[in-house]
Amino acid sequence: MQGWTIPLPRSPVKLRDEFEKERADKLRELTDWGYLVSDRIRQAMQKVPRENFIPSLFRDYAYTEVPLPLPGKMATISCPHSYPLFYEPLGLDRGHRFLEVGLGSGYGTAIAREIVGSEGLVVSIDIDPVTFEFARENLEVAGYDDTVLVLGDGGIGYPEFSPYDRICVTAACSGIPRPLIEQLCTGGRLIAPVVEQGTQNLVLLEKRGKQIRSKVICEVLYVPLRGEYGVDGV
Ligand SMILES: C[S@@+](CC[C@H](N)C(=O)[O-])C[C@H]1O[C@@H](n2cnc3c(N)ncnc32)[C@H](O)[C@@H]1O
Repeated sequence: MQGWTIPLPRSPVKLRDEFEKERADKLRELTDWGYLVSDRIRQAMQKVPRENFIPSLFRDYAYTEVPLPLPGKMATISCPHSYPLFYEPLGLDRGHRFLEVGLGSGYGTAIAREIVGSEGLVVSIDIDPVTFEFARENLEVAGYDDTVLVLGDGGIGYPEFSPYDRICVTAACSGIPRPLIEQLCTGGRLIAPVVEQGTQNLVLLEKRGKQIRSKVICEVLYVPLRGEYGVDGV
């Protein structure tokens, strides 16, 4: 898979109406492409203004299919199709206890919060203090003050709120970190980009008692996971 071409930074000129139209067009496009299937994920993506989770010099590209740089080391907001690409096979739903490894901009966290609702729980971790602060502010301004945000190595998970119904890793790992599998409840699902023979595959794992089933969904391209379970010691 080829690398992404990141657009050049520029001062934002788009207004709210324009973003709203672009958001509606994007949701139609993601539905036509087959990424977006369920109403609950569509409604969550409709509700969360992606442009408010993007640094101002890249804000006008909010609905372009490209990951955009965030403050911090090797952090990006993933491209729009990534969210249904991860959340649809995960079957993320109302009431779930959800752990996200790779908070980034906070956009995926906000969408997850909309999906799981007040009866669920969203915990999100980022390893980078600068990125973490960016996301924390974005979520606070957007009114998502009921998510648990953790600064630390997400490869070791967050046992305090485990077991989780669903876990999503948004950075590429060399293998699915064992602590994350341990923190998944029985019947739970985890999705992660995994580096296998030089390519990244999006892997969906399901835990059934002691049995672990996994399947590859497609090839992807994500920033590497850092920390104890990082790719080649990143
Ligand atoms: C593709 S970005 C996340 C996109 C994010 N979900 C969003 O919606 O903006 C991947 C993130 O993983 C973070 N990351 C990398 N290694 C990590 C680790 N071991 N633990 C937690 N976060 C990590 C990076 O700092 C980066 O913010």
